[in-house]
Amino acid sequence: MSDVPLLELNDGNRIPQLGFGVFQVDRSETVEAVTHALDAGYRHIDTAEMYGNEREVGEAIRQSGLARGDVFVTSKLNNSFHEPDDARRAFDGTLEGLGFDHVDLFLIHWPLPTLYDGDYVSTWRTLEEFKDDGSARSIGVSNFQVDHLDRLAAETDTVPAVNQIELHPYFQNREVRAYDEEHGIATEAWSPIAQGEVLDDQVIDEIAEKAGRTPAQVVLRWQIQRGNIVFPKSVTPERIRENFEIFDFELDDSDLERIDDLDQGEAGRNGPHPDRFDYAG
Ligand SMILES: NC(=O)c1ccc[n+]([C@@H]2O[C@H](COP(=O)([O-])OP(=O)(O)OC[C@H]3O[C@@H](n4cnc5c(N)ncnc54)[C@H](OP(=O)(O)O)[C@@H]3O)[C@@H](O)[C@H]2O)c1
Repeated sequence: MSDVPLLELNDGNRIPQLGFGVFQVDRSETVEAVTHALDAGYRHIDTAEMYGNEREVGEAIRQSGLARGDVFVTSKLNNSFHEPDDARRAFDGTLEGLGFDHVDLFLIHWPLPTLYDGDYVSTWRTLEEFKDDGSARSIGVSNFQVDHLDRLAAETDTVPAVNQIELHPYFQNREVRAYDEEHGIATEAWSPIAQGEVLDDQVIDEIAEKAGRTPAQVVLRWQIQRGNIVFPKSVTPERIRENFEIFDFELDDSDLERIDDLDQGEAGRNGPHPDRFDYAG
């Protein structure tokens, strides 16, 4: 039995709270990295069409000998394919690349409100088709701001199961996080350790020292205790294992609050702002 909690999504499906992310994992390194992750015990992989490594993710899962149903697989719609017909083709391409007849979770990668006449609503309705026919067990969004979520709520029938957003100690994305929670949307925290940027922080280091843990383990543990779903990325086998070993200790309330206090608001954001991001290459 794995120690990783399974969180119930608003559609009744369950997702392992800790997974493995493969953004910026080169295609040539993906089978090996995912194999290390599965060996370490991860049963949730987060990829995307834009990462260029869906094929290798599928291959590693098949090679592991694990049953398909034992691994939760997420992928995401490429920004170039928001028009409904393009989205249908792209989704077929994702399934074909992975070599699976379904994904566990499929996301709109970015809202792109300045493109497609601001119409992410028909894109969302297209994802509802994938959910209806079972080829995406759950559907969700990524990088959606409060007004984007409000619009989906007003104009469509399905509340996203998850919203995958940038969230780490320096950028806690509180307004979106609170909206998600209030509306039954699970928050997935991307760049959960801020791509390593928070690991030299004095507060994190002090807490790590006290807990006898590494800074990465402390930050991931904070994410878990705050209820976020995470999938740290690493191509380094020891780090892949280290990031998984976070279920045999707990941070106390004062540690959690000290990390909460590291929030820099908007100044801590590393990625693009979802209201302006318009890359669809
Ligand atoms: N939806 C979106 O728009 C979006 C955007 C970004 C990311 N994501 C998802 O979120 C996942 C994670 O985010 P991320 O890849 O941006 O960043 P991250 O997981 O916060 O950090 C990854 C970086 O930290 C290093 N690292 C990992 N574990 C470490 C440890 N224990 N000690 C020290 N350094 C460590 C890795 O180095 P090595 O690999 O060299 O070990 C890598 O450079 C992605 O893979 C992707 O699945 C989604």
